[in-house]
Amino acid sequence: MFNVISPKSVVRSGATLLFLGVLAAAFTPARSSAVPFVSSGTQRTKTLIDAGWRFRPLDSTSTNPIPDEAGASYDDSSWRTVQLPHDYVVENKFSPDADSDHGFLPTNVAWYRKHIHVPSVAPGAHLWLEFDGVYRDSKVWLNGTLLGEHQSGYTSFYYDVTDTAKPGADNVIAVRVDPSKTEGWFYEGGGIYRHVWLTTVPPIHVGHWGTFVTSTVEGLSNGTASSASILDQTDIVNETSSPETATVETDIIDGTGAKVASGTTDVNLGPGLTPAVPIKLSVTNPHLWSPDSPNMYSAETTVLVGNKVVDSYDTPFGIRDIKVDPNLGLLVNGLHVKIQGTCNHQDVAGIGIGVPDNMLAWRVSKLKAFGCNGYRMSHNPPAVELLDDCDQQGLLVLDENRHFGTTYIKKSDLNTPYNDLTDLKDMVLRDRNHPSIYAWSMGNEEVALEGTPHGYEILKAMRDTTKSIDPSRPVTIVNVSWRPDLDFTHDLDIISLNYNSWRYDTVHKANPALPIESSEFATSYSTRGIYANDAKNAYVAAYDTEAPSWGSVIHEAWAAIASREWFMGGFIWTGFDYRGEPTPYKWPAINSGFGVMDTCGFAKDNYYYLKANWVAPTTPVVHILPHWNWAGREGQPIKVWVYSNGDEVELTVNGVSQGRQKVPQYGHAEWTIPYAPGSLTAVGYKDGKPFGSDKVETAGAPAALKLRSDITKLNANGEDVSPIEITVVDAKGRTCPTADNNVVFTVSGPGVVAGVGNGNPSSHEPDFASQRMAFNGKCMVLVRATTNGGKIVLHAKADGLPEATITIRSH
Ligand code: GAL
Repeated sequence: MFNVISPKSVVRSGATLLFLGVLAAAFTPARSSAVPFVSSGTQRTKTLIDAGWRFRPLDSTSTNPIPDEAGASYDDSSWRTVQLPHDYVVENKFSPDADSDHGFLPTNVAWYRKHIHVPSVAPGAHLWLEFDGVYRDSKVWLNGTLLGEHQSGYTSFYYDVTDTAKPGADNVIAVRVDPSKTEGWFYEGGGIYRHVWLTTVPPIHVGHWGTFVTSTVEGLSNGTASSASILDQTDIVNETSSPETATVETDIIDGTGAKVASGTTDVNLGPGLTPAVPIKLSVTNPHLWSPDSPNMYSAETTVLVGNKVVDSYDTPFGIRDIKVDPNLGLLVNGLHVKIQGTCNHQDVAGIGIGVPDNMLAWRVSKLKAFGCNGYRMSHNPPAVELLDDCDQQGLLVLDENRHFGTTYIKKSDLNTPYNDLTDLKDMVLRDRNHPSIYAWSMGNEEVALEGTPHGYEILKAMRDTTKSIDPSRPVTIVNVSWRPDLDFTHDLDIISLNYNSWRYDTVHKANPALPIESSEFATSYSTRGIYANDAKNAYVAAYDTEAPSWGSVIHEAWAAIASREWFMGGFIWTGFDYRGEPTPYKWPAINSGFGVMDTCGFAKDNYYYLKANWVAPTTPVVHILPHWNWAGREGQPIKVWVYSNGDEVELTVNGVSQGRQKVPQYGHAEWTIPYAPGSLTAVGYKDGKPFGSDKVETAGAPAALKLRSDITKLNANGEDVSPIEITVVDAKGRTCPTADNNVVFTVSGPGVVAGVGNGNPSSHEPDFASQRMAFNGKCMVLVRATTNGGKIVLHAKADGLPEATITIRSH
């Protein structure tokens, strides 16, 4: 059972009494920003300004009211040039004195500066400087003028710089970043780690995050619909001083580029905001969005005054019917879908939280590959591009708010009021058009407030605020402590429980009107390639026998979900290992081992357990653990497990059959074999016929490096990265499962090493380096494209082994 008085739970609960003082403000939905569409003939442009930032990882010593570094004339020529997205905390040295939750990496203040040419804009047009995410407590100046301060490291924000910018001239943006106050109990990084944009909008324009496209379907049968009614609501802003009459047109474009519906309306615009101008449309035989068929549409909005187009704006969306039901679980387009999801934090080996768009897409594809269909944005709003990937590749998203009415920061550190619901509102406004999002989560494990009247007040305010911006989706909050009446959440739409799988039936019985899901059903608590707990090195055995005190092993937890038809499904904690929160061992461990994959995306054995249970039953899965390199343990018994979605598995050891075993439902087949070098072969059977196989062999000494990458084509944009997997193999090409060779990397052609990793939770080697030891046979190098296209060759070399290369193309 979860220990509600553990330091972790006490520290992470967030509400303060200051909240109610500003509650009133919470009910005014913020109306602000929009997303990209660059169209000739209109003045709307959206320009990515990620390149060429100057960076210094030190605070200012200036005592001037405006720090020298913020001024336009400051000499930053000695500062390093960096490309966004960028995390600099990941470059710091591990220290046992630093916060374990944050991965033993010390944090420090840093500055960024960028010189930028700002275009001239027509009278009445506006210029916005948009930040998708800065971790955290940022202050932004333009030409020495303070534009504002933004606390949360997880929400997107923008400044209207129309009056501060110097059009047609050189302008200087300066950003001070202070990651020292934390928002969570996991690695959070530091820096401008998402995109920055310079946007121009015409005098009459679609508002910021100003479209909302919803649909209802008719004639639902067998996962298809005969038609869909679409409501497109557009905020229009008139920045001129005179009223205008405008025409708003919306075209619905399908995935092939065909226009499938069109609608128009006239609207009288006073000065300022005209909210939610509605257009109703209808699409016949719509291609519905689902995790298996993630069909997308776009709503192209055009604003005209007279016959002149004054603004154009594109909203990607999907048509789908999602319902949650206490007895039927989750229904997508009328069909029962069990959520088979993972929770994830943001960071990646080598680069921390500064994750390029193509790596976000890669991470989603790694999850899809083992049958995952859900992603919980734990515990914060993500990069918008990650939501795009979930839309496009098909993952059901639980989008999660970070702050429960306030920040995670200790009360004593609160020096500015930050207790309204702005972050929540901004998340919902920004993200509400993504078809992948099936529900909003108000937060995670607000232990100190669960069941308290004060917590209930805050929660109701958050629910109402969310529904006022998006009435179309269910609202939930993630619980961990158990109270029979669930009084904290009974006015929400879904009960989300962390762990506690032994309580599902009791909760269901006590709350017959509420659908239930598991927001964290178990942890994938293990170290890749390790088969015995090792406190000295802080490794956890990869057999599914290990679970933290507050959870169960995976197969028990999954069985509890899979065997209850009415249960919506669940998310495992986590898909990928992440820095920080090392558990159960702390130093020397600097990252958690909760992932189904490690920080590099290398699969652990639990990956195959879930794959066997999650992929289509026609896809054979057979996986043997452990490896078979146990020199010195000859004759000693070794537990051999096989995960399979066959009915039976036959294990053969050095050519001798050990017989067939039935694979228990939601379980595994298991033998104990005295070790002798050689090979293990497992053959799965389904309905009596062979159904997949796996083989592990005792590998010889390391003889070569094998390189591969899922991404061999990059855009020459200075940002895209190829994650290259290095495997140490023997003379016969077999993986050496305990190899720890140090591999040194060089790049020829238009690429650079962006970082390295190996998934070892206790490695203190720097990630910002061009060499890495293999950990249990594998390591990874991330190669980043420059802005020149061409052939990039990565050379990998380890002592005594021949050099290996892989070629990546960038264009
Ligand atoms: C949960 C929490 C997660 C993580 C996890 C570890 O209670 O929501 O953030 O700490 O425990 O099992």
